[in-house]
Amino acid sequence: MSFTPASILITGGAGFIGSNFIHSFLANNPGCRITNLDMLTYAGNLKNLTDVAENSQYRFVKGDIGDAALVASILVQEKVDAVVHFAAESHVDRSITGPEIFVRTNVLGTQVLLEESRRHWQSDVVTDFRFLQISTDEVYGSLGDTGFFTEETPLAANSPYSASKAGADLLVRAYHETFGLPTLNTRCSNNYGPYHFPEKLIPLLIHNIINKKPLPIYGDGLNVRDWLHVRDHASAIEVVLKTAQPGSVYNIGGNNEWKNIDIVNLVCDLLDSRLKREPGENRQLISFVKDRPGHDRRYAIDASRLKNDLGWEPEYTFESGIAETIDWYLDHQEWVADVTSGTYLTYYEKQYGERP
Ligand code: NAD
Ligand code: TYD
Repeated sequence: MSFTPASILITGGAGFIGSNFIHSFLANNPGCRITNLDMLTYAGNLKNLTDVAENSQYRFVKGDIGDAALVASILVQEKVDAVVHFAAESHVDRSITGPEIFVRTNVLGTQVLLEESRRHWQSDVVTDFRFLQISTDEVYGSLGDTGFFTEETPLAANSPYSASKAGADLLVRAYHETFGLPTLNTRCSNNYGPYHFPEKLIPLLIHNIINKKPLPIYGDGLNVRDWLHVRDHASAIEVVLKTAQPGSVYNIGGNNEWKNIDIVNLVCDLLDSRLKREPGENRQLISFVKDRPGHDRRYAIDASRLKNDLGWEPEYTFESGIAETIDWYLDHQEWVADVTSGTYLTYYEKQYGERP
């Protein structure tokens, strides 16, 4: 199966993973046009995309995936032949304090995109089409000490975030089964790397260590996550988009299971030497705090289907990826300062004038 997109609609491309994907996809596919539809919530940062903003193959549209008329007009105007759908509310802790927006964006927003994609695909504007839903291993729930999530693991989401992603994944499946829409669905483990919003564990640790602030560890710190470098994720998405059979689901993982406390210690130690602090100094910032309600104990991905069917494997080890990521944050402290001060929220006006 081979598919070469000519015009992609990317949703949520101003966020962490979407912006990394835009960088790599534009570099690998200079002939493909990209339209980035992003509402610029607190998680959207146009500074992630300054080096592609002038690329003639790239266009930014500020808007909501739930706006059917806007989505329909982009699909037709740009002759879109692939939708790569990243846009979401993505932070588990926020879904506990305010679940409603997660259902609105992640479930209802995905339904609008699917419906407009179906109409567009059934018109004669494009001959071939793909809808790629970017999802998470969190839809499978939590593992015990052993075992891995495969694509056949039943969905058993535990947080409002993962429940909303599971709902969206089932709608994607339904649009394939019911209407034949050529959908693809990837489910990946925890990403890390450049442009990661500093509310998530790894960038939060780096930021707090630099500023000598406490490092909050939920519960006993023994929860396990399986870490995937965001550039490995981007390369896997490209492979799935171009070569997977419509209707298929693929797990994406980096074979990097780590207990939270081991990551915290590693990041502390790497920053001791980079910040010229005493060995062990940063570990004194560790602070065990009340556990997250419904905190999934362990995630671990079996990505062998992706390797066996499509030949994809991750390139980063966690040790190489985390060192590079720490160096990226040290080299981009202005990016972090703009996020923590809120200055990044003014980039749309600076670049494009008043918000519509
Ligand atoms: P993010 O929070 O960094 O970015 C989300 C982007 O979506 C932002 O730019 C935001 O402005 C935009 N957005 C939100 N609501 C929108 C709406 N209604 N209309 C248009 N744009 C909207 O998220 P991320 O970490 O880059 O995650 C991207 C996707 O990958 C999500 O679907 C997430 O569920 C999935 N995922 C993320 C991880 C991870 O570790 N970060 C792991 C597995 C899956
Ligand atoms: P997070 O980055 O929020 O990703 P997710 O919850 O989607 O896996 O958290 C990663 C792990 O780190 C998770 O087990 C929760 C834990 N964690 C902390 O211990 N302290 C923190 O301040 C944060 C944000 C997360």
